Amino acid sequence: MRRLRCLGFVLLLSLLLPHRFLVSAHNAVEDDEEDWDSEDPSDTPSFSAAEASANVVGKAQKVLLELTDQSVERVIASQEYLLLLGYAPWCTRSSDLMPEYAAAASELSAGGSNVLLAKIDAISNPRAASLYNIKGFPHLLFFTNGTVQMYNGGLSGGEIVNWVQKKTGLPAITISSSEDASNILNQNVTFVAGFFQSFEGSDYEQFIEVAKNEVGTVFVQTINSDVAKVLNPKPQIVPPLIWILKDEPEHVVNYEGNFNYDEIFDFVEINKHPLVIGLTSDNMAKVYSSPVKLQVLLFCEAEDYEMLLPLYEKAAKEFKGKVLFLLMDTADEELSRPMLAIYGLEPGTPTVAGFDYANGLKYLLEAEITGDNLRLFCSDLVNQKLPQHYKSKPIPAANEGDVKVVVGKTFDEIVLKESKDVFLEVTMPWCLLCEKADKVFRKLGKVFKEVPSLVIATIDASANEHPLLKVDNFPEMLFYPAGRKDAPPVVAPAKLNLKELVKFVRANAVNPISLSTGGVQKKEEVAQEVKVAESSESFRSSKEEL
Ligand SMILES: *[C@@H]1O[C@H](CO)[C@@H](O)[C@H](O)[C@H]1NC(C)=O
Ligand SMILES: *[C@@H]1O[C@H](CO)[C@@H](O)[C@H](O)[C@H]1NC(C)=O
Repeated sequence: MRRLRCLGFVLLLSLLLPHRFLVSAHNAVEDDEEDWDSEDPSDTPSFSAAEASANVVGKAQKVLLELTDQSVERVIASQEYLLLLGYAPWCTRSSDLMPEYAAAASELSAGGSNVLLAKIDAISNPRAASLYNIKGFPHLLFFTNGTVQMYNGGLSGGEIVNWVQKKTGLPAITISSSEDASNILNQNVTFVAGFFQSFEGSDYEQFIEVAKNEVGTVFVQTINSDVAKVLNPKPQIVPPLIWILKDEPEHVVNYEGNFNYDEIFDFVEINKHPLVIGLTSDNMAKVYSSPVKLQVLLFCEAEDYEMLLPLYEKAAKEFKGKVLFLLMDTADEELSRPMLAIYGLEPGTPTVAGFDYANGLKYLLEAEITGDNLRLFCSDLVNQKLPQHYKSKPIPAANEGDVKVVVGKTFDEIVLKESKDVFLEVTMPWCLLCEKADKVFRKLGKVFKEVPSLVIATIDASANEHPLLKVDNFPEMLFYPAGRKDAPPVVAPAKLNLKELVKFVRANAVNPISLSTGGVQKKEEVAQEVKVAESSESFRSSKEEL
């Protein structure tokens, strides 16, 4: 199974979200991405998309270098600044980015930038892919005199240019005429402006440091008071002055604190976003790099949003600076499905969720979405009073099989039941080894079906969570002995076949297991079952399959 993946959006998420959320995010996306693991890239539709973008790339050929296994190290070593895009020809997300990347290369080159933009086909150049650990596509790395850092900016041409400029000595654009000032106003972008007596001194340096480290917003600077007057409607404009200009009701926000880095940085981070942020793959990097780590998300479609907007905005005003208010349009499936999957939600009714990005904690507003409930939810979120949300599939109506199906909501009731020995198989969809393990587990269920004190069970960890279930490798088999549910479970060694698993269960069960008495099944039959099943292949556990 090819483990190189085409995951523009999920890659972005992976930069942003704690790792364990990605298992389900991957799965949610992978579901409808049949060409991800295609062994024969030439027959996937995405290939023609790559060719279509070749024209655009062609124009920028001179400024966008194509590297290979042979050239990549030499070129990186020779450049002060180099941005490298690792792509796969069959990856639509790579080809979507290509025109943006080429435009960024042209713009930088036209502006006389000393940054080289390069790309490398990571499939045809496996040595370089391995050297720079390029596994997901598109993959962007920024090199400064050969030292690498992850690219964490947005994926539009403008955002790439902005990010690169900020890293390479052009953190703020100088505006020197009223005409240029009017032009930038007409662009309707959010920007941070600084008006200074001169481009030097401590106040100015603090501003520039913030410009370098902030992700995603254009900074402009001027020493011309006519320019400042165009950009700021304030009646009295005296340098030094910093302000943010946005295209929304809260139009201009002037900075009123001291000129020190931390205060300016926080001011920018808190005020640069609109009150309610419609989350898109373009602004994601900006949102997740905010020092405001608490988020409220409203999942809904546009028509519901009209109705919910007033109360959502009201809460956003009240909790500004403490909580980011995000809007997730569920009609945008590519964006919303991985996020919904993180909460175990289905699109449909509007839902409010909370997220503490600093600690990776999830919350859900279970009550109806009203102004009061939302307000209470936000204040409990801020005061860390919300119970965590663990996702769960609905409780199955019938659960009479030899292998019991456990969901998040029934984990306590089935797995942690003190009177029972429980052997639990933890699986993931799209995991080949899990399918093999399932087969063996079904046989194991059959072997022990007449033992009432022993439960053979299975749980799909992509859709079900429990605070005591912490598994990284799949499949994992966990034994919870009766009367010892406070202790961590016993992990079954990998690569056990059916016979060994039967032994393992017998060795770990606290309740007596008697297959010959009490049960309908005879000892010989069990032996026969084991024998038959044994001839089928054994399986092994591995993290590789994820
Ligand atoms: C990169 O290396 C050159 C040559 O040693 C040096 O002049 C330059 O300042 C370095 N650039 C950065 C950003 O460190
Ligand atoms: C900028 O925003 C204003 C007011 O919201 C609008 O009238 C104008 O058409 C916008 N211009 C562009 C270029 O989007």
